[in-house]
Amino acid sequence: DVPEVPVICIDGPTASGKGTLAVEVAHELGYHYLDSGSLYRVTGLATRRKGLEPEPAYEAEIAALAETLPLQFVKGKVLLDGEDVSDAIRTEAAGMDASRVSALPAVRAALLALQKRFRRLPGLVADGRDMGTVIFPEARLKVFLTASAAQRAERRHKQLISKGISTTLDSLRADLEARDARDSSRSVAPLKPAQDARRLDNSQLSIAQSVEQVLNWWQETQPFK
Ligand code: DC
Repeated sequence: DVPEVPVICIDGPTASGKGTLAVEVAHELGYHYLDSGSLYRVTGLATRRKGLEPEPAYEAEIAALAETLPLQFVKGKVLLDGEDVSDAIRTEAAGMDASRVSALPAVRAALLALQKRFRRLPGLVADGRDMGTVIFPEARLKVFLTASAAQRAERRHKQLISKGISTTLDSLRADLEARDARDSSRSVAPLKPAQDARRLDNSQLSIAQSVEQVLNWWQETQPFK
């Protein structure tokens, strides 16, 4: 009963540029966009606001929160209970909390249906860690995006500096390596390339070049050209 709505999955580690790439590709194709990481980030934020730690001891409570998140996406903003939390969920601490709640199987299960509902015509570009392996395994194009840890730390550093947030390269790199390690080693839906994923290392590519590569791959999957 799943309609033939095309999906492009873009998975990869922290700060690999998935979001930027996915947004651009969605824009080019006129498709919808799912930032699945934002769901775990909002869940982490809601967890803290309830006074809970993002830990296995509270798995059931956190899953219940995730199941009923009063969440809206409006013009690129993320609203939680009507409040714009777009900036609050982008901090390094929020990323780490997201990674911690995302390792809890009941939380992943609670967010499953919500993610699948993003699949609407004319199509969807979804980014995350398990888009191609778990959420949309039948997607015709799956991209596994990587970049060296040094590159990723540097990009994140520039991003934060431009927002007036001061950090050091070393601490950013340590943070993202810790997050990758947790995301890759968890028992449920770990970060790993789908068997049929195309690998794209964008360390040496511009955003435009990465977008072009994905659009070319997408063209190749089309039955009629
Ligand atoms: O992509 P991101 O940095 O916004 O994701 C934040 C965390 O959420 C990430 O460290 C792991 C988790 N996540 C996940 O487990 N599965 C996804 N599909 C997306 C994110």
